[in-house]
Amino acid sequence: MRELFSEQTIETRVKQLAAEINADFAGKAPILIGVLNGSFIFMADLVREISIECEVDFIKISSYEGTSSQGTVHLLKDISADITGRDIIIVEDIVDSGLTMNFLMSRLEGAGPTTISVATLLFKKEVARLTFELDYVGFTISKDYVVGYGLDFDQKMRNLKGIYRLDGQKKSEEKG
Ligand code: IMP
Repeated sequence: MRELFSEQTIETRVKQLAAEINADFAGKAPILIGVLNGSFIFMADLVREISIECEVDFIKISSYEGTSSQGTVHLLKDISADITGRDIIIVEDIVDSGLTMNFLMSRLEGAGPTTISVATLLFKKEVARLTFELDYVGFTISKDYVVGYGLDFDQKMRNLKGIYRLDGQKKSEEKG
């Protein structure tokens, strides 16, 4: 296990992302929608650096990549907020294949928000296949599996304060 980003590096970057959001959404009241479970720590840190009026909600999905490039996504918990006519910001821990984010984007678009933006702490740019641009990216990383700061390996290691690369590990089953 090798450290990729220290607690301090993450803290600095999260503050920068929040500053961008504060500037971009000045005078508005966006709803931040966290994608459970992985985003809970990023969301908690990000939202406390946001100084504009905002709301918080969560959605939970599970994705299975399997062997096909398509994969399947299941909704486990929907948002509670009415997002019609609102500015929303999806808050994700990591965009890997892009399957989850593509699903979320089309699902949330269907509810008629005014704008949808995406904030992800980590982005596996080489592997992601997205049909849109990401608005706020903490760090672009390689395709290696990472843990810590909310990200798990078999539901464990979410509590690590930094982000670590797991050497020689691959996981293609259930995510989230
Ligand atoms: P995607 O649908 O392939 O983009 O994967 C998104 C979800 O998979 C994320 O929300 C994470 O929960 C999980 N995931 C993807 N890559 C990693 C990783 O390297 N470490 C931990 N979780 C990951």
